[in-house]
Amino acid sequence: MPIRRAAATPPAQEKAPSAAEEREPEASDEESPSPDEEQAASSAAGAEDGEGENSGDAHPDKNEDDAEEEGAEDEKKDEKELKDGYKYEKSKTKKVKRTIPAWASVTASKNIPVTNYAGTQCRVDSVLIEAIMSSKDKAGISFQSLMKYILKKYPNMELDKKKKFLIKKAMKKHVEKGTVKQLKGKGLSGRFAIGKKPPPSKKGRQKQESLGDALPLIFTRLCEPKEASYTLIKKYLKQHFPNFNIENRPDVLKTALGKAVEKGHLEQVTGKGAQGTFQLKHSGKDAQLKGSTLEDAITVAIVAMNEPKTCSATSLRKYLIDSNKDVKEHLVVANLKRTLTKCKVLGWMKQLTGHGLSGTYGLSFPYYPSPKILYPDNFKELPKKPTRRRHTADSSDEEEEEEDGVEENKKTEKEEPAAEKQHKPSLWSPCFYSRAGKEVYSYVGEKITINEGLDSYAGMIWPAALALCHYLDTHQDRWSLVDKAVLEIGAGTGLLSIVAALLGGWVTATDLPEVLSNTRANLSRNTRGRCRHTPQVAALTWGQDLEHTYPSSVYRYDYVLAADVVYHHDFLDELLVTMKHFCRPGTTLLWANKVRFGSDLVFTENFHKAFNTSVLAEDGEVKIFMATSREGSKETD
Ligand SMILES: C[S@@+](CC[C@H](N)C(=O)[O-])C[C@H]1O[C@@H](n2cnc3c(N)ncnc32)[C@H](O)[C@@H]1O
Repeated sequence: MPIRRAAATPPAQEKAPSAAEEREPEASDEESPSPDEEQAASSAAGAEDGEGENSGDAHPDKNEDDAEEEGAEDEKKDEKELKDGYKYEKSKTKKVKRTIPAWASVTASKNIPVTNYAGTQCRVDSVLIEAIMSSKDKAGISFQSLMKYILKKYPNMELDKKKKFLIKKAMKKHVEKGTVKQLKGKGLSGRFAIGKKPPPSKKGRQKQESLGDALPLIFTRLCEPKEASYTLIKKYLKQHFPNFNIENRPDVLKTALGKAVEKGHLEQVTGKGAQGTFQLKHSGKDAQLKGSTLEDAITVAIVAMNEPKTCSATSLRKYLIDSNKDVKEHLVVANLKRTLTKCKVLGWMKQLTGHGLSGTYGLSFPYYPSPKILYPDNFKELPKKPTRRRHTADSSDEEEEEEDGVEENKKTEKEEPAAEKQHKPSLWSPCFYSRAGKEVYSYVGEKITINEGLDSYAGMIWPAALALCHYLDTHQDRWSLVDKAVLEIGAGTGLLSIVAALLGGWVTATDLPEVLSNTRANLSRNTRGRCRHTPQVAALTWGQDLEHTYPSSVYRYDYVLAADVVYHHDFLDELLVTMKHFCRPGTTLLWANKVRFGSDLVFTENFHKAFNTSVLAEDGEVKIFMATSREGSKETD
């Protein structure tokens, strides 16, 4: 059946990569929910909690912090409000917008000291007050000057739209409460000064920081077993321990891994030699850091990069009770219950088994804490150092960096030869936070540079993408993509689409709208002037409005590519629907996947039922499947 190539252009809202501006990926706009969203989640959490349970601890219209602050007295009040049913009923109908939690963003993981539960709103508030207090002018400070002050003093705050909105909102609240005085003008115009002191919080104690923000770190520590692949360990070391120069000396890491296995510190659970997955032995909740420094770094890398991060509610409960001895046990448990439900409603966590406070939970977003966050006692901050010029591990460009909060490990520095040390950034320099890492690959005889970020699944290159890139590159005779219409779903960084475009395909790379800026930049950088057809980038959310956005009469593809799109997420049904939508008679679907969870196997079974399938190749734990439409085979039969 002929394919209408012109029609295989993606929907109009996305520009072709050639027209797209090349820029670094932005931090997510949705780092944390707005207060309204939090409120809605708390309401829904309350509603969920209330289902057939004794939910005296779950006030549907309160956030967890307030509820915890007010303690047992208010619980009685909550019960009353729940019994009259009004708020409960109302909360049930409130729609909760799912957001990406603050801890899932790389920049946020630097700003939020998860160890002591700090939250974004608190930070915005205190920065705002500090900015107002910085003005010595009796006539007060204008909102613009205040923003300028914040921008200069806290460049890492990344004053994107959302943060500006939060600051404006905080300002309005302070003016309403009288804690900030508006000396002149209306709204945000005019001038501001510090007003009356805020009243001390109830019971005269500091407001507790959010347990929701702390849970990811607790999950990271409690999750067992802890394991990570060689690739992920290497990535983490490259980003956080640049002094080991692992990028140029992978043999050092391979030897260290081998030794750690020999010593019984690690167990190699899959693969052979260095190319496999390594598990920490006797890790406990706080893996002991001892032995050579590279060994320590490997331990930290495994703990941080271990996926999936899951934890039983029982261990969480025990951990929190043990570490909050001064708080009444029932309050700790109530707070945990409320927080878990809220995180579930917001989509930050999934309950993998059980119900309520039984069973197991897992983080829905990637969370890779830095060594400093993970082991604050071992990796302390040193005082600020002056600005100096240095070479980064990622590129040969010499860059000037403010070494704010630089950490270092003296033991390691001693071991390093002086000559090498001179050219290396200091051990704990936070370059990883300031820009995403770059990975360089070689396919189709071309060097491909991919900008990665650890802030979402889409920001990383997954093993199945590498397997499929290699397979397509080495099987061009069997699968010629030249002048073929190719669609990739869940393209992430776009590496596979780049390879397909270099192989001559007419490629459309698709993914969720919020991750496309990085996809587009990677495609643009690596394909400009190198391909027969300029690849396109388009938004495609699995299962959503497919017939409307991509009508099957118009969008027909020779190939549909998908790599590592099956993992622990809620959209496996939608994914299959999407595959079916695009894999029509005449289309070949190539799906590469690494099996990780039981749900992956269920998907694979449904995949086999939906299509004519065969396994094209197996590369370690990754399988490459080929599928064609069953309708097609009926027609040809
Ligand atoms: C594990 S990553 C794999 C990325 C890339 N294919 C690779 O192998 O490197 C999964 C990708 O699927 C995308 N994704 C997840 N849920 C999606 C959905 N509901 N609709 C569209 N894309 C989705 C993610 O944004 C991410 O890019």
